[in-house]
Amino acid sequence: MLVKRRRGWEMPERSATPESVYLDRRALLKAAGFGMAAAAVPFAAEEAAAQGAAADPTAGLYPARQNMRYRLDRAVTPEKDATSYNNFYEFGSHKGIAGAAQALKIRPWTIAFEGMVEKPVTIDFDDLVKKMPLEERLYRFRCVEAWSMAVPWTGFPMKAMVEFARPLASAKYVVFQTFMDPKVAPGQRQSWYPWPYTDGLTVAEATNELAFMATGLYGKPLPKQNGAPIRFVTPWKYGFKQVKSIVRVEFTDKRPVGYWEKLQSSEYGFWANVNPKVSHPRWSQATERVLGSDERVPTLLYNGYEEFVADLYKGMENERLFA
Ligand code: MTE
Repeated sequence: MLVKRRRGWEMPERSATPESVYLDRRALLKAAGFGMAAAAVPFAAEEAAAQGAAADPTAGLYPARQNMRYRLDRAVTPEKDATSYNNFYEFGSHKGIAGAAQALKIRPWTIAFEGMVEKPVTIDFDDLVKKMPLEERLYRFRCVEAWSMAVPWTGFPMKAMVEFARPLASAKYVVFQTFMDPKVAPGQRQSWYPWPYTDGLTVAEATNELAFMATGLYGKPLPKQNGAPIRFVTPWKYGFKQVKSIVRVEFTDKRPVGYWEKLQSSEYGFWANVNPKVSHPRWSQATERVLGSDERVPTLLYNGYEEFVADLYKGMENERLFA
């Protein structure tokens, strides 16, 4: 019997276009060149995802039930755009890395929990996923380069992972590290980059309800180009914080310096919260180009998640919260 399951992102949000999301024609004309680069990527992302899903022992866990608490104010980005316009410097410093990323071997895959924890532990990714409460969430995503998307992630609250890791009370930060394998990741042969890719959060941020460990996208296991088998998602922060293909999670009491901060601390900092009023030194953050269209929309403080996260930053006015 053929049962058509309505997937989570096929919800009415697809048609939602509130007044705040409008087309600025002048900005649109200015952005036209940027948009063309995105369209030029020749990669059959859906085909690769289908192949990957067939070999994936966790494929049966998808699609997971959608958590309706997290709603969008805009249409979901077409899957082909979110899976063919990527940043994954391990595979190249351009957006068309999806084909090259297929070289990444994601089984077996282990994640080590280390540093200030009661007991260090290394766990197989498939075993970890089975222990975690999987759900789907529709989140906005804002890159520091001023493009954005809105996608259905599947995964589990980062808080559940922190509880699994059992950090010491004295741990203040959690640091995520990407795999290191220059044989499959040509970008990692470029020694001027500070490999492996890392970035971190405070433990308070990591246990905020929005912080999410993503293992799936569009109701399927995460495509390699989006950070398979596991990456994190903090939708109120710029995308560069959100480390892909994680192999190590370390708890520490020292504030970590992430990949981009190491490369260029005048442009990228630890907090990296989205704020339309604080420009990047080289461009404005006031608006964003919506992936898959030529639309430009206003950027929102904390990417629209102020009600969930503003309390985390009370009394921190002297910090560089928005870079
Ligand atoms: N993680 C790793 N390991 N390597 C990267 O180059 N790029 C970051 C982030 N995580 C990056 C990474 C940046 S700059 C962005 S905008 C997002 O991944 C892009 O995620 P996406 O390709 O799924 O849209």
